[in-house]
Amino acid sequence: MSEKLQVTELVATDRVHGDVYQDPAIFEREIDVLFSRNWIFIGHDSEVAEPGDYRQRVIGRQPVIFLRDDAGVVRVLMNRCTHRANAVCHLERGNAKAFTCPYHGWRFKTDGSLAVVPFPDRYDADFDKSAFGLRPAARVDSHRGFVFASLNADVPPLSEYLGPLVMSELDDIADLSPVGELMVNAGVHKVRFAGNWKLMIENAIDGYHAVPVHRSYFENVQARTGKNPGLLTTSASPARIRHLGNGHCAWDSSAIIAGGTRSFPGNQPGQEATRVYHQALVERYGQERADHLLAKSGTHLYIFPNFGYVGAHFRLFQPVSAKETRVHLFPIMLKGVPQEINTRRLRNHEAFYGPAGGGQSDDIEIFERNQIGLSATVDPWSLISRGIHLETQHDDGSTSGQITDELSNRAFFARWQQLMSEGI
Ligand code: FES
Ligand code: FE
Repeated sequence: MSEKLQVTELVATDRVHGDVYQDPAIFEREIDVLFSRNWIFIGHDSEVAEPGDYRQRVIGRQPVIFLRDDAGVVRVLMNRCTHRANAVCHLERGNAKAFTCPYHGWRFKTDGSLAVVPFPDRYDADFDKSAFGLRPAARVDSHRGFVFASLNADVPPLSEYLGPLVMSELDDIADLSPVGELMVNAGVHKVRFAGNWKLMIENAIDGYHAVPVHRSYFENVQARTGKNPGLLTTSASPARIRHLGNGHCAWDSSAIIAGGTRSFPGNQPGQEATRVYHQALVERYGQERADHLLAKSGTHLYIFPNFGYVGAHFRLFQPVSAKETRVHLFPIMLKGVPQEINTRRLRNHEAFYGPAGGGQSDDIEIFERNQIGLSATVDPWSLISRGIHLETQHDDGSTSGQITDELSNRAFFARWQQLMSEGI
């Protein structure tokens, strides 16, 4: 690490040293500890709805295949032939009856087992095909279709890692569907920027930036609808940021949505499709839970280290180097709702995050400027102190702050520092 600062010296309760965004040695430790030995979000099981469906993903920088096998089991397998390490899966997504290695032709079933070895007569009788299946990730588990994996067999159980508060947030997201099922089948937006991965993580739960960075988008929305979404993120807003434990954070904007001044994607008040949708929620969950879901939804959820949910999509963060990041955004459709609801969710997502959208491009510009500013090291510290004396502790173990506070930054870096210094 530059200047030879130890990880423990790079984070204080109210500030972060610029090395954490720039130092290649720190980045390598992040890949090793946070992204390889930790639980990592892989994808949603509806992405691989049919037997043989697959997606290429990574754990840290290691290539894996996220797939559903012929028996319907969701698996995460290393994308590495057990002969001499060629990648056996080449397309980003598709459906396969089997994976045949292009080098010498070893063929693997969708459950990973080795089915065919060409010219096997040159191996002796002890050669056991069953010992050479594609290697699985050490741990795979899921909650409400959200699939996580780890290369570390000793990682704590996923339920413990997420904790009840995060699982409850995922339940609220999944239950926006009146049949409790999400469909991640509407394509992907891909983003790549010249900046550290943590810059986008910080931003995903950062209410403070929205008014200055997204001013033109908010003005555009106000001109069309008469409502200013920026009111959610002023210091007068009743919306909160909550730390749910283990560095996982969420927005709680229910006080605003329940008050009717804002609505979540797809939920357009006054339209027939919306009435049908709300009725379906009430029939499935009862009035009280339906009200809770409608008020709560549209939240931002961050699960340490690589999962984000914002509005109507989830995102996969994928660090490339200390100063380069890829992010994939997947719009989420609701099963069991009028098509119009899902169409509106998609249009709303595109309006902010699409290539011609008015919001995400502003954020990306900010990340790259942030990385430029970080190279000035006369005073290498970034402040994360906003609202530090105004945090509220709750009986459920969570901590909350006002939506423009930097509570989530402090929670993230406390967890980052703990794992980076102690390991997993
Ligand atoms: Fe795959 Fe040889 S490397 S068959
Ligand atoms: Fe933003």
